[in-house]
Amino acid sequence: MEIVVTGCTGRLGRSLIREWQGEHVLHCLGREDLDFGEPAGLERKLEGLCFDGLVNCAAMADIECCESHLREAQLINAESPRVLARVCAQRGARLIHFSTDYVLDGTREGLKSEGAAVRPLNQYARTKWAGEESVLEENADAIVGRVSWLFGTEPDGIVESVFRSARRGEDLRAVADKFSKPTSVQEIGRMVLALLGRPDLGGLFHLTHPGEPESWWSIATKVVRAGYEAGLLKHCPEVHPEVMERAERLRVARPVHTAMDPARLRTDLHWQGVGWEEEVRLRLGSLSG
Ligand SMILES: NC(=O)c1ccc[n+]([C@@H]2O[C@H](COP(=O)([O-])OP(=O)(O)OC[C@H]3O[C@@H](n4cnc5c(N)ncnc54)[C@H](OP(=O)(O)O)[C@@H]3O)[C@@H](O)[C@H]2O)c1
Repeated sequence: MEIVVTGCTGRLGRSLIREWQGEHVLHCLGREDLDFGEPAGLERKLEGLCFDGLVNCAAMADIECCESHLREAQLINAESPRVLARVCAQRGARLIHFSTDYVLDGTREGLKSEGAAVRPLNQYARTKWAGEESVLEENADAIVGRVSWLFGTEPDGIVESVFRSARRGEDLRAVADKFSKPTSVQEIGRMVLALLGRPDLGGLFHLTHPGEPESWWSIATKVVRAGYEAGLLKHCPEVHPEVMERAERLRVARPVHTAMDPARLRTDLHWQGVGWEEEVRLRLGSLSG
């Protein structure tokens, strides 16, 4: 397959490229190739490229930055994705656009499937939700894949950060009253390839593992235990629980219960999925050197 990957310097883009290199023809585009701050120029810049699928990993994903640079966030997270959706529809190419669990209404406990209510609480979530809507308005065959708490990434995601801190013997603290699911970028890579190969499927998908909601604290606790059991940590450190409201670094409002159920992956793609804990064990093995 010939695939354009935008946002090739970011966590997700870089990881997908690493996973797919050698198997597919990849056109890796960064900000200097396609500036999402200027949606009007995108169509012309894509003209010379031949591709079957476009995987959009470009975003303003920094929550604080979206609050302070709202216009830029709207252009990058919503208006440019609309242009990509239109270009892909005109060319008959598949589009995979990523969104976030932060768009969901996080007031009630439990897993949220694709039909669950949306209630964005901050500008990041508002612009990402606008992006979901504009992509699907322009191109009903496009896939919007919501993801959450990525790991297996460079730079580090949640799993890598906790493990490295534990190895350095640092004091470990994590918020225990906010719930979602960690998701391996390796598994996202496999899901996206499967979706690219199914042009009959379009719309919103929750791209995550099966399993129950987790807090940052429960994830950190399981990661250090897995590291200890694999012989990669000399002892199993305690992780101290924190309350979100008191965490100074989390000043912008965030939803509480946004763990996603990958319902459409199960029913439409017949995707069995692996548990995130299994992917953590593999990832820790690769970090142990
Ligand atoms: N990381 C997570 O845990 C997480 C959780 C939920 C959802 N997501 C979603 O997953 C997707 C990927 O996120 P990520 O974590 O990979 O984000 P990231 O690491 O911040 O990467 C963002 C990418 O977008 C590019 N970009 C930013 N502004 C641009 C512009 N004006 N023009 C062109 N490219 C621009 C960045 O390029 P530069 O390197 O040049 O800045 C970078 O390549 C996003 O849709 C995000 O909302 C991520």
